[in-house]
Amino acid sequence: SDPKATNITWHKGAITPADRHKNLGQKGCTLWFTGLSGSGKSTVAVALEKALIKEGHHAYCLDGDNIRHGLNANLGFSPEDREENLRRIGEVAKLFADSGLITITSFISPYRSSRDQIRQLHEQVGIPFFEIHIHVPLGIAESRDPKGLYKKARAGEIKDFTGIHQQFEAPESPDLFLPTHELKLHQSITKLIDLLKQNNILT
Ligand code: PPS
Repeated sequence: SDPKATNITWHKGAITPADRHKNLGQKGCTLWFTGLSGSGKSTVAVALEKALIKEGHHAYCLDGDNIRHGLNANLGFSPEDREENLRRIGEVAKLFADSGLITITSFISPYRSSRDQIRQLHEQVGIPFFEIHIHVPLGIAESRDPKGLYKKARAGEIKDFTGIHQQFEAPESPDLFLPTHELKLHQSITKLIDLLKQNNILT
């Protein structure tokens, strides 16, 4: 979106992504997880971050619940607020990835248009972006209900819950599809590491 401020000029740094890659030995990227509440996004994200760091790769995970405690504490769950939530995270992820980090984002991100815009934001400046669909059927997410939120949503205590009152637009062609009800955690991690290797993020 166009900035509100006028009289601002883009200041270009002296280091290119290629310089960073060559000197720091690591190429940044964004792994954008999307999926229903209870699909396993945070579980997979945290395990991947741990696996990468154990191998000496600099990775960092941005998580929905956590970001909503700080940076996006002024946003709720209306469609407009979710869009703004994702717009900000998309910008933050792009900056993190530009700095050379393997950035893992773990947000429901229910809208195709938001995810597509964030992909464009990255691709415009040549930063690799991967959309990862963390999938479970709604019934399984609801039966897991790790935070008791589906129960509250069914009881009418939450009125804008994804999958119950608001839509989740599943990706049409994600870079990786992880059905977490059919895969063991280590299998999901292997698939993610393979994706990073195939795309020369990891060697
Ligand atoms: S979004 O749609 O991408 O902006 O959502 P996100 O920032 O990922 O936040 C989702 C987490 O917030 C909790 N929560 C809700 N989720 C969906 N709908 C409603 N109404 C809602 N209210 C609270 C919930 O814990 C989500 O976390 P996950 O990890 O997905 O379960």
